[in-house]
Amino acid sequence: MSKVFMFKRNEFEVAETMIQSEAKNNPAFLELSDVSIEFQTKKGPFKALDNVNLKIGNGEFISIIGHSGCGKSTVLNIVAGLHKATTGGVILNNKEVDEPGPDRAVVFQNHSLLPWLTCYQNVELAVKAIFKKRMNKAEMKSWIEHNLSLVHMDHAMHKYPAEVSGGMKQRVGIARALAMQPTVLLMDEPFGALDALTRAHLQDSVMEIQAELKNTVIMITHDVDEAVLLSDKIVMMTNGPAATIGEILAIDLERPRDRIRLANDKRYNEYRTEVLKFLYERQHRPSEH
Ligand SMILES: Nc1ncnc2c1ncn2[C@@H]1O[C@H](COP(=O)(O)OP(=O)(O)O)[C@@H](O)[C@H]1O
Ligand SMILES: [Mg+2]
Repeated sequence: MSKVFMFKRNEFEVAETMIQSEAKNNPAFLELSDVSIEFQTKKGPFKALDNVNLKIGNGEFISIIGHSGCGKSTVLNIVAGLHKATTGGVILNNKEVDEPGPDRAVVFQNHSLLPWLTCYQNVELAVKAIFKKRMNKAEMKSWIEHNLSLVHMDHAMHKYPAEVSGGMKQRVGIARALAMQPTVLLMDEPFGALDALTRAHLQDSVMEIQAELKNTVIMITHDVDEAVLLSDKIVMMTNGPAATIGEILAIDLERPRDRIRLANDKRYNEYRTEVLKFLYERQHRPSEH
């Protein structure tokens, strides 16, 4: 399977180098151009996002950070094809995004597993939907098991969601998304509901998996340490309404990254301070609504 995946990526990379002169330095594998969105509400139209522009390279790990309610999930949902931008749009791999697709798997905060299926069967459902014509039964089985083992869930894969912890459910959600072999992995505060220790374990797993698979990842977080530890770039959003991208911070820390070693790293702490200053000095916390 990974051979097929590699081939697709290489084929794309060749095409892109030919098409875009700037491709070498900043291939806009995924591009949001002039994205704005207006929701119709009882009180009238509400402009949540305005003029969002973002270029993401193939294999980049991007975090989106910003205060609650600023529009992070809305950006992710537009990339997922779940919301349609009022103006502007999204191009992925030279194709306009206008509906949800298996090339963009979403991991939600609340793991959204079907409770009447085992962990294995939850992953199987997604795999069957996508690979039914391309894999036989044995291939599907080993592909499902492989993805569950990536998130260290192979030992509990035949348990039901109610029989495993929140962290384990979240692992299954990630395995299910990875098993779809998405071009882009979209994660909306995937570790937000977990305790600190479980969160750290899962962050490490996601970093390991991404190092191996080289997926393009967009992750929403409001955890500054998580953003710095995991990302190649942190996209910092201004407060809404009409939220947009305030600043983009490139995180130039070599990988693999070790949280304990980085805790005393000067650059790590500078990045951290930079994000904190953006959030708490340059952007006022909006009133709850
Ligand atoms: N379907 C919708 N209808 C109306 N308003 C919405 C809708 N979805 C989101 N919003 C509003 O858009 C803003 C951004 O929401 P959201 O993207 O969920 O923020 P975040 O994920 O950053 O917390 C909020 O003010 C929210 O109330
Ligand atoms: Mg949100």
